[in-house]
Amino acid sequence: MYFTSRDVDSRVTSVLGIEGTAWNLSAAIVDENDVLAEATATYMPASGGIHPREAAQHHANHITGVIKKVLSRGIGIDAVAFSRGPGLGPCLRTVATAARAISLSSGVPLIGVNHCIAHIEVGRWKTQAVDPVTLYVSGANSQVLAFRAGRYRVFGETLDIGIGNALDKFARSVHLPHPGGPGIEELALKASRYIPLPYVVKGMDFSFSGLTTAAESSLCKASLEDVCFSLQETAFAMLVEVTERAVAHTGKGEVLLAGGVGANMRLREMLSIMCEDRGVRFYVPEKKFMGDNGAMIAHLGLLMLERGNTIAVEDSAVLPDFRPDDAEVTWR
Ligand code: ATP
Ligand code: FE2
Repeated sequence: MYFTSRDVDSRVTSVLGIEGTAWNLSAAIVDENDVLAEATATYMPASGGIHPREAAQHHANHITGVIKKVLSRGIGIDAVAFSRGPGLGPCLRTVATAARAISLSSGVPLIGVNHCIAHIEVGRWKTQAVDPVTLYVSGANSQVLAFRAGRYRVFGETLDIGIGNALDKFARSVHLPHPGGPGIEELALKASRYIPLPYVVKGMDFSFSGLTTAAESSLCKASLEDVCFSLQETAFAMLVEVTERAVAHTGKGEVLLAGGVGANMRLREMLSIMCEDRGVRFYVPEKKFMGDNGAMIAHLGLLMLERGNTIAVEDSAVLPDFRPDDAEVTWR
C-alpha cells in the first residue's frame, strides 16, 4: 500500500492527480496553496512519432514508480483525479485504471478531469489571470477558449493537426531531434528573410497540415533557417489573429497562454504585442505548468472535489474525444 488516507480532523484538502494523455506520464499531489509532490516519466519513441500502444505500455511500466514516488512522503490524499480526455485511448485507459485502483483501495473519491480545462485552471491558479481568453497550444491540441454562460467555450480550433505536431512533423522531415519546437525556434533566430507560406484561417478556425507540407517543399528554394522562421511567423500569426478576434468578441481583458508550444519566445512576443495594442493583460505561467503536468490535473480535481463533482468507478470510462465545452463547470 503506497498511500496514506487523510486524517479525519485534518483541515487542508489534498488531491493526487495523474496525467497521461500522450507522451507524458505525470503525477502530483496539490493542496489549495501549492504543489506538494510531483513525479514524471516521458515516453520517447526510438524513431518517428508517438505510437499509442507503445506509449500506453510505457505508462503501464512506469505508473507504479511515479505514483509511489509522490506518495512516498506520506502526504494524505482526499481524492484521486485523472485525465479523462481528450487523448490517446490506450494511454488514457492505463492512467484511469491506476486511478480507479487507488480510489477503490483507499476509499477516496475519484474525479475525471477534462485535460484542456486543467491547462486553463492551472494557469488561473499560477498567474493573476481571472477570466482570460486562453490560447492552448500543444502537440495534439490547438484551441482558443473562454468561459461564457457556464462553460468553457471553444471560440476557434485547429481543423486538422495541433501546432506542436505540425512543428514536430516538419522537424522530423529535416532530421531535427524530437520534440521539434525548440530546434525550429533556435534556427528561426538565424533567418534572413521570410518565405510566403499558406496562411489558413477559416472563420475562427485554423489549419496546419498544408502549411507543414508547403514548408517542406520550400526547402528547395530557401535555407532551413528561413523556412523555420517563415513557418513560425505564419503559424503563430494565425493563432494570434484568432486569439485577438476572440478577445474582441468576448470583450475579456486578459489573455492566458497554455500548452507546451507556449514555451516559444516568438509566440509570446507576438501575443504580448497584440495584447499591448488592445490594452489587454497577458499571462504566461511558469514553464513547468504549461506542458502536460500532473499538478494541473490535481488542481482541477481539487476544485471539482470542493463542488462534490466526483464520479463512480463504474461511470468513469475514458473519453478520448472529451471536448472542453462538454464538461460541466461547477467551480466557477
Ligand atoms: P497534449 O496532449 O496536450 O497535446 P503534448 O503531449 O503534445 O500535449 P505538451 O508538453 O503540451 O505536450 O507540448 C509538446 C509540444 O510543445 C511539442 O510538439 C513540442 O515541439 C512543443 N514545444 C516545446 N517547446 C517548444 C518551443 N520552444 N517552441 C515551439 N514548440 C515547442
Ligand atoms: Fe495538454
